[in-house]
Amino acid sequence: MSSISIFAGSVYGNAQHVSEEVQNMLSDKGIQSEVFSDPDESDFIAAESILVITSTTGQGDVPPNLELFYSDLRDNFPLMNGKPFAVAALGDSSYGDSYCGGGRQFYDLMLELQGKSVADMFEVDAIETLSAEDEVVPWVESIVSELQV
Ligand SMILES: Cc1cc2nc3c(=O)[nH]c(=O)nc-3n(C[C@H](O)[C@H](O)[C@H](O)COP(=O)(O)O)c2cc1C
Repeated sequence: MSSISIFAGSVYGNAQHVSEEVQNMLSDKGIQSEVFSDPDESDFIAAESILVITSTTGQGDVPPNLELFYSDLRDNFPLMNGKPFAVAALGDSSYGDSYCGGGRQFYDLMLELQGKSVADMFEVDAIETLSAEDEVVPWVESIVSELQV
């Protein structure tokens, strides 16, 4: 069974915490995973399957800890050749058009890189949910077999 690389984009720790809870759940199932909070492109290339769990900052922006990573992927365009991926986006719908924009940027980029999307982007709205992990962990559980190649 393949390992899942979790790329966590977080400003205030929410998405980081969710990523760690997802890792705990995977570990309980005997599935190997690693959380990357300061990744570079080589981590992306080496990944067997990819889960991005990211919040949004500014006006639809990727959190600073993934900014360079995102722009390197954009610039260098490492094709994924069908590598499976999924994105969970933490946001706040009061931001209107930029709702979950950070997650959306990753989702769209990985489609362009010819990754295989195993699920629609999963959105968690801070207005409706206080503990994002209660939504994201079961969602990952429901798609984990698709993520594993
Ligand atoms: C300064 C600031 C800007 C934000 N901008 C957006 C935004 O443009 N779109 C959105 O959906 N959420 C936005 N959010 C909401 C966060 O993405 C949301 O609260 C998220 O749960 C924070 O997770 P984190 O602690 O991992 O950063 C913003 C929050 C702050 C404080």
